Formats: sequence, C-alpha cells, structure tokens
Amino acid sequence: MSIADDLKASVRAIPDYPKPGIIFRDITTLLGNAWAFRRAVDELVQPWAGSKIDKVAGMEARGFILGGAVAHQVSAGFVPIRKKGKLPHTTVRIAYSLEYGIDEMEMHIDAVKPGERVILIDDLIATGGTAEGAVKLLRQIGAEVVAACFVVDLPELGGAAKLRAMNVPVRTLMEFD
Ligand code: PRP
Ligand code: ADE
Repeated sequence: MSIADDLKASVRAIPDYPKPGIIFRDITTLLGNAWAFRRAVDELVQPWAGSKIDKVAGMEARGFILGGAVAHQVSAGFVPIRKKGKLPHTTVRIAYSLEYGIDEMEMHIDAVKPGERVILIDDLIATGGTAEGAVKLLRQIGAEVVAACFVVDLPELGGAAKLRAMNVPVRTLMEFD
C-alpha cells in the first residue's frame, strides 16, 4: 500500500450515523495513530511550507484538533471558529448549512487583523456549508484566506468546488464517494 492508501485506511466508516443514509467518516482512528496524525498534519500544509502564515483558523470541533497541530507546525497563531454562544468576547456570527442540518458559527471580531494571512483547517469537507461560512466570517474581518485544507473530501457533495468558486485554494488528502 502507498502512504496515501495507508492514510486513507486509517479513517473509519460508520454507516447510518448520525442519521440513516449518512456514512460517517470517523477521523478519530487517524488521530489515534501517531504516524497517521503526523503525516496528515505535515501533508495538509506542505504547499505553504516556508510561506508566511499569520493564523490558522479551525472549525469546532474536529478542526480544533488538526488546526492546533497545524498552527504549531507553521508557527502561526490559532483562531477557533465556534458554534454559537461559546465565545466570551464580541463576535461576528453567520448561519450555515451542512450535510445533516443547519447551525450558526461565530468568531471573535478581533481574532484576525485586516490583511493577515490565514489558512482554514477542518477534518472534512462535504457540502462546504461550514467552510463557506468560515471563509465569509474571515473575509468580513479583513483576513486574506490563503487556503482551506481538509483531510477528507466528499467530492459528490460539491464543497471543494464551492470554495474554489469563491477563489479559495483547496487542499484535500483523500476522497470518499
Ligand atoms: C463536520 C465536519 C465539518 C463539517 C463538514 O462537523 O467536521 O466541520 O461537518 O460538513 P459540510 O462541508 O457539509 O459543512 P460537524 O458540524 O458535524 O461538527 P463537529 O465537528 O462538532 O462534530
Ligand atoms: N460532516 C459532514 N458529513 C460528514 C460525514 N459524512 N462524515 C463525517 N463528518 C461529516
């Protein structure tokens, strides 16, 4: 097996979670594998090695785990994008839809300074609703979104294409139907 196949094999599939008909791509098995976790973090930001990145933004909750590790890797600060009502200071907020529902996300209004270069990180992109909302929040406070990086892409749901249409470079490490 190639390294890419080994990484893909470390993601577990859970049928009918959280709703019938959804195949949940569970990255906890990748995170629990020391080799796979390191490899995923290294690979996610490999194109930007040596570039100046001011902040890494991660989406609650799984984007926090990967985003924190990536921020350390590229010597950037970390910005949490959270579900509504969790952040203590003044926020910007946006409603968004995802593969199995709707929600609202928030970010501190001063989390990024205008012109700062930000990489957005999450475990998975499906419909792209979550990432689209995050890009809009970041741009609203003046960030330059350098790229959005995901371990898993579900291309049939169109999220990566949606982000590219917003002029966001997208990097993903593996695809599932
Ligand atoms: C999952 C995943 C992404 C999002 C992708 O998070 O971690 O953030 O869905 O879906 P989309 O591309 O259709 O928007 P979820 O909202 O389930 O939250 P969790 O990480 O807190 O479980
Ligand atoms: N988020 C949205 N769709 C998902 C899926 N199929 N597996 C894991 N996380 C998801």
